[in-house]
Amino acid sequence: MPPLAAHIWPVSASIGQHGHLHIGGCDVVTLAEAYGTPLYLFDQATIRAACQEYRSAFAQAYSGETIVHYAGKALINTALVQIIAAEGLGLDVVSGGELFIALRAGMPAARIHMHGNAKPRAELQQALEAGIGQIVVDNLDELAILAQLTSGCAIPQEIALRVAPGIAPDTHHHIQTGQATSKFGLPLASLDSAAHMINAAPGLHLAGLHVHLGSQIFDAHPYAEAIAVLLDCATRLQANHGITITEINPGGGLGVPYLAEQALPDIAAYAHLISNTLRDGCATRGLALPRLSVEPGRSIIARSGVAVYRIVGTKPLPESRHTDPSAQRYLHVDGGMADNIRPALYQARYTILLPEQADAPAEEIVHVAGRYCESGDILQRNIALPKAAPGDLLAVATVGAYTLSMASNYNLTLRPAVVFIDDGHARLVQRRETYADLASRDV
Ligand code: LLP
Repeated sequence: MPPLAAHIWPVSASIGQHGHLHIGGCDVVTLAEAYGTPLYLFDQATIRAACQEYRSAFAQAYSGETIVHYAGKALINTALVQIIAAEGLGLDVVSGGELFIALRAGMPAARIHMHGNAKPRAELQQALEAGIGQIVVDNLDELAILAQLTSGCAIPQEIALRVAPGIAPDTHHHIQTGQATSKFGLPLASLDSAAHMINAAPGLHLAGLHVHLGSQIFDAHPYAEAIAVLLDCATRLQANHGITITEINPGGGLGVPYLAEQALPDIAAYAHLISNTLRDGCATRGLALPRLSVEPGRSIIARSGVAVYRIVGTKPLPESRHTDPSAQRYLHVDGGMADNIRPALYQARYTILLPEQADAPAEEIVHVAGRYCESGDILQRNIALPKAAPGDLLAVATVGAYTLSMASNYNLTLRPAVVFIDDGHARLVQRRETYADLASRDV
């Protein structure tokens, strides 16, 4: 029996009776029958373990105050926000919609930060009315709007400034965000203008400096570079504008393994590198130790998620294409780019198995094709699997992050049901969409 690549699947995954994939003590095959496919399963134990690992890694590594904010753009729904809140994390939102769900789920407004390079005025207003903990300001135009919106406020709104540090980490260029030419963040040259505007705005209190370098990053050293940039900015703000920075936030972005041969990132080592750089950088510059905030998304939620599809048909590929390692046929599944656009958008790789024969050896190489009317809708190419037939199930690992949160209704398909599993107990947290949902906006 080939062992499950344990670090790719949820912490509670195992191979149970009849060689079926189990998650949290539940048989995935039974769940697919009960809830239908495509189905997104999430293991709560994996989510909680990731939250706890982050919190304890930073609490141990840093002598000042630390706070971990989950980046809700990776995945957000009411049940998830409730788990995040119960684990003591804060939440980053990037839209009025995410803010609405966060508040509805009971996340305290004080623990919510709002991000975004183009926050509409109405959503800034919504955030101010909700009394959220912090708005992370991206540019001078946003700062001007906020100064105006808060001019009559009795209690100043806490803000942070996101700067573009001019650092490009090693990741897919679509998910790099720290370079000077990025659409995100204030150019370093605009820092003094921002400071003048803030000092003239009685409704704003600048507490923090922020960067976000990108996503799916494995080498933590760019974070150390980014912290040095932020501390230089803090020194400039103190010396030239009398502003004391009390929070440093190097963003999120830590990578996760999607394939068996990739290793789990060392969160403790990442926390130590960031904390030590911050402590030493403050000592060198004579700055007081600030609060340290981080905002992981993917590394909190990716591993907990497993997508389950049904194979609806197959198609043989021409003989001439059978050269190693080319696939011999397509397996067509009942989902694809509308529930997970990452393969089409970033050539993202995933680990796949057949949950009804999770312990069977591979027998053929296949392409797994999505159902959507788009040649690029191939979930994975050249995957080795046991022999599968129409009607069989297929499971994709590590799909918790940036799949459902980027899902669409392309071809007017229905967005999948979402089931959370907790220690042998499965509960529906988002029902599958219905045709009535599809018609509900048509007037
Ligand atoms: N903070 C900010 C300001 C961000 O923009 C992001 C992600 C995060 C934190 C969380 O980063 P994480 O820890 O999840 O890497 N759709 C792409 C990823 C886009 C990331 C957007 N920003 C993907 O599927 O790979």
